[in-house]
Amino acid sequence: MSVLILLVAAYLLGSIPFAIVSSRLFGLEDPRRYGSGNPGATNVLRSGNKAAAALTLIGDCLKGWLAVWAAARLGFGAFEAALAGIAAFLGHVFTIFLRFNGGKGVATALGVLAGIDWRIALASLVVWLLVAFGTRYSSAGALAAAVAAPVAGAVLLGLGPVAGALAAMSAVLIWRHSANIKRLLAGTEGRIGGKKKV
Ligand code: G3P
Repeated sequence: MSVLILLVAAYLLGSIPFAIVSSRLFGLEDPRRYGSGNPGATNVLRSGNKAAAALTLIGDCLKGWLAVWAAARLGFGAFEAALAGIAAFLGHVFTIFLRFNGGKGVATALGVLAGIDWRIALASLVVWLLVAFGTRYSSAGALAAAVAAPVAGAVLLGLGPVAGALAAMSAVLIWRHSANIKRLLAGTEGRIGGKKKV
């Protein structure tokens, strides 16, 4: 298989919007119509349905992990496998199934990190948990974890192409949180488990 086919397949896998899939499965409103409007686990949780939010989180996470794992199983090197993960991440953010307007990529990025090196994923998850549950802002946790991931990557894997790829993924993730950053600074950001209308 060529790298191009790998990346296109990973992009399509990442494009599956589990927030929409799980909301339909549970008979919920489209998450793009309430809360932050983001098709992601944090916003699905604002519907009040924890199972739908958990399914969104697991599905979005697994697709990132699967892209990296499958690339490695197919014999691609570490950098190509990381690129496959980033293609899945970009699929989530710019999903072809939602007119290229997808989510913010937090869960999918976590899955990608787990596929690359579980220690990087664990370090980022711990940072996310500490900040998110310390502040009760999911976005603050995501932003802190986005900084932690490439740092952990550089420490554990060295300053190489994989750490560079993680830095690029984090840059996109932080950019996707532009509106959250503005709300955090204005003190109007919705808390974890808050009401449907922010
Ligand atoms: O996972 C996305 C999270 O960081 C922010 O979600 O819905 O509060 O914009 P949301």
